[in-house]
Amino acid sequence: MVKKIKTCVFISGNGSNLNSLIKSSKAHNFPIKIELVISNNLKSDGLKIAKKNGINSIFVIYKNRIKFEKLCLNKIKKNKIKFICLAGFMKILSFNFIKKFPNKIINIHPSILPKYKGLNTHKRVLKNNEKYSGCTIHYISSTLDSGKIILQKKILIKKNETEKSLKAKVLRLEHKAYPEAIVSLFG
Ligand code: GRF
Repeated sequence: MVKKIKTCVFISGNGSNLNSLIKSSKAHNFPIKIELVISNNLKSDGLKIAKKNGINSIFVIYKNRIKFEKLCLNKIKKNKIKFICLAGFMKILSFNFIKKFPNKIINIHPSILPKYKGLNTHKRVLKNNEKYSGCTIHYISSTLDSGKIILQKKILIKKNETEKSLKAKVLRLEHKAYPEAIVSLFG
């Protein structure tokens, strides 16, 4: 039996990537075990997903970054967390927080970085008539969507692609890519 790395997932919304990570982590040889889920949004569906799977999940109010991070650090220490996955987490972590976990915080972004950092990626990708889009799993650094790349996957954009269809297509890709990236790190 592999000794799984105690992991925390940060979310803000739907939690479909969280769901795919939970599913993957049920395999006996998957390198991480999700022991904690933190959401800055009380209404996040991801909180329900965590609960359904018996994972310790908490809502941490984000009034300001210092307080938020202090509360998170507390929980992370208590749960002996060694690895952090951001999955649709819509806040930016401070340099002070990041440097406490060198090469231990990763994120998924719905574009082929370094192109289309930030928000509204699909809209911008379509506006620019790109042929391909995709997703990137990368380490977190103090600049947004700029840390070292771990894995990228791409898909072809159809002629009649809409923002909605592209989002759904990229999400399906993300659900495969995120677990794969984690295996590539520890496998
Ligand atoms: C994903 O597209 C992810 O790449 C981005 O936010 C979205 C989160 O989706 N960072 P979900 O909450 O995992 O469904």
